[in-house]
Amino acid sequence: MFCEIDYTEVCSGFHVAHLFPSIMQAKIEDVARQAAVSTATVSRVLSGKPYVSDELRNRVLDAVQKLNYRPSRVARSLRVQRSSILGLIVSDIQNPFFTAVVRAVEDAAYQHKHSVFLCNTDEDVEKETMYIELMMAEHVSGVIISPTSSHNDAYRRLVEAGVPVVAIDRRVNNVEIDSVLVDNVSAARRLVTHLVEQGHTRIGAVVGTPVHSTGEERLRGYVEALHAHDLPVRPELIRTGIPKMAMGHTMTGELMDLAEPPTAIFTGNALLTIGALRAIHERGLRIPEDVVLAAFDEMDWMFFVKPALTVVAQPTYDLGRTAVELLLQRMERPDRPCQEVVLAPTLHIRESSLRRMAAVTA
Ligand code: RIB
Repeated sequence: MFCEIDYTEVCSGFHVAHLFPSIMQAKIEDVARQAAVSTATVSRVLSGKPYVSDELRNRVLDAVQKLNYRPSRVARSLRVQRSSILGLIVSDIQNPFFTAVVRAVEDAAYQHKHSVFLCNTDEDVEKETMYIELMMAEHVSGVIISPTSSHNDAYRRLVEAGVPVVAIDRRVNNVEIDSVLVDNVSAARRLVTHLVEQGHTRIGAVVGTPVHSTGEERLRGYVEALHAHDLPVRPELIRTGIPKMAMGHTMTGELMDLAEPPTAIFTGNALLTIGALRAIHERGLRIPEDVVLAAFDEMDWMFFVKPALTVVAQPTYDLGRTAVELLLQRMERPDRPCQEVVLAPTLHIRESSLRRMAAVTA
């Protein structure tokens, strides 16, 4: 159940005051008077419509803040305690992982009579900041976010504004907040160890940017696996970038075009894996005969890939459901200590990585 918040609906101040004398709410007319603009301009600004000058926009937002104006839909939810609105900010709606997270969050929110207001940042920090400010302006009841960086100052502002927040999938480093994550380091370490145990000593890593904690932690797991088996970490075999298909295709192509290409590839997420498969097949290479592949993430489409892929499967639905539970607990008890819930992914060894390398002669 998703909803657009519509500021054109106006709940009369008297009506709300009559029901809740203790929270005399400013009306849209008060905001317009305070900002010396029309009520139509107030509605345009608060519904994010274009063609409003920065000067007018700032006057309206200042008046909203000064009068603590609450939009009608939130006022109505206060009146009937029927449903509140949870903000959900994901970093890449085209990534099936996040689509699955949205599914889980919406299911859990609906069960608790909440609506979900969904935003997609497309891994863009400025867009993420704009959506965080919008969530605060709309007084959503809480926010679940898959952070686009680990230190955007907007996270701190959200917490300081008293908005309950839960980070999902990735860590935030500049403010303490509840988070629900996967143990990326040990999962990546186990996956790469499997490749080492197959005799591979030249293992390429195609992983997400270390700006995201998922990218940094999966790369750390790769490095730890090599160190644990006294194998050198070769920078020329490591590529990091935005975790999308095109980047996976480019980075894998670079590795396979090396004078001495890797005999195994470790990919850091489902979209990078699609790009890697395309680069390998474009070169007429076979999996596992010419190069073996081990991937982070398991997606439904992977069951059509031959040979079957060796993967780390994330407990995606549990991540989303747990994030809603943490958020509702935070909404109930804002002063409770922060919690970090780390879920265990599952390693599935399949044909794409099962080719033993001939023992390397000394
Ligand atoms: O495909 C899902 C994964 O890729 C997530 O863990 C997300 O962080 C991205 O790196």
